[in-house]
Amino acid sequence: MKPEILQMGPMMAHVEAALDAAYRVHRYWEADDRAALLAGIGARVRAVATGGHEGCPRAVIEALPKLEMISSFGVGYDAVDVAACREHAVRLTNTPDVLNDAVAEITLGLMIALCRRIPQADMHVRTGRWPEGGYPLTGELTGARVGILGLGRIGKEIARRCQAFKMRVAYHGRSEQPHEPYEYYADLVSLAGDVDWLVVIAPGTPQTRGIVSRRVLGALGPKGCLVSMARGSLIDQPALVEMLQSGALGGAALDVFEDEPRVPEALLGLDNVVLSPHQGSATVKTRTAMGDLVVANLAEHFAGRPLLTPVA
Ligand code: 8YV
Repeated sequence: MKPEILQMGPMMAHVEAALDAAYRVHRYWEADDRAALLAGIGARVRAVATGGHEGCPRAVIEALPKLEMISSFGVGYDAVDVAACREHAVRLTNTPDVLNDAVAEITLGLMIALCRRIPQADMHVRTGRWPEGGYPLTGELTGARVGILGLGRIGKEIARRCQAFKMRVAYHGRSEQPHEPYEYYADLVSLAGDVDWLVVIAPGTPQTRGIVSRRVLGALGPKGCLVSMARGSLIDQPALVEMLQSGALGGAALDVFEDEPRVPEALLGLDNVVLSPHQGSATVKTRTAMGDLVVANLAEHFAGRPLLTPVA
C-alpha cells in the first residue's frame, strides 16, 4: 500500500510523476470542497508536498492528525506554519543551496539592467530611435558600494559576484561573521547610508517584516538603488513606491512584492525601476534540482532515513 500524501498546489511535471509513482496523492487545490477532502483523508495522510507560495497553514496541519512531515519547494518556507509544525511534531524540509547560483546570477543581472538601463536601451533600438541618436550615457556597477542585507548562503554568492564586478561589499545581518572578508554593519540604516546599492536577501520572518523601512530607504537616498530578491514583506512597499515616484530613492530592481502576483500600478510607469516576476530560482536546471529535492526528502522520510534538508 502506497503511503498517502497531500499535495497543496501544482508542481513541476517531473515532481508530480515521481510523487504519483511512490504515493497515493491527494490534490488539495483541485478539490471543490477542501474541508470535505481533509475530513475524508485526514486520518490517513502522512506527508504534505507543497510550494513556497501555497505553503501549509495551521488549519491543514491540524486537520491531519497522522501528519509526519512537510516537504516544501523553495528555500523560503514562510508560507508554512512552522510553529504549528513544532507543536505537532511535524518535520519540515525546504530546498536550500541548489538555487544559490541562479538567484545570485539574476540579482547581478537585475542590477546591471537597472544601472545600464538595458530594458530602456533595448526599447531604443526596437522603436527605431537609434538612427536619431545613441542612447544617453548610464551609470555602472564597477567601483560602486553594495550593502547586502542577509549574508546567508545566497547572500554570499551575491557578494562574490559583486566582488567580481569590482564593487565594495558590506553587509548587515543578525550577527557579524568575522571570517567573511566584508565589512559588517550592526545597524541597517548606517549601512544604507554608506552604500550605493542595497541588496535584500534575508528570509521573510516576523523579525524581518518591514525591516527595509522608510528610514532605511531614506538613508539609501536619491542616488541609491534597492534590489529586492527575498520576500516583499521585508520592504515598506508603500514607502518604496512613494519614494521612487518623488525621487527620494534613486531606483529599484524588484523581483518580489508584498502581494504577488499583484504589483502596485504606480510602479508600472516608473523609469527608475526594473520589474521581475519572482524569477530568482526560475531556471529549468535549478527548478528541476529543487523539485528533485522535494521528492528526495519525502523518500528519505518514508525510508526511515535522516531528512536531507530539514528546517524543523
Ligand atoms: C521559489 C523562492 O520559486 O526558494 C524560494 O524561497 O522564493 C523561489 O525560489 C518559490 O518559493 C516557489 O514557490
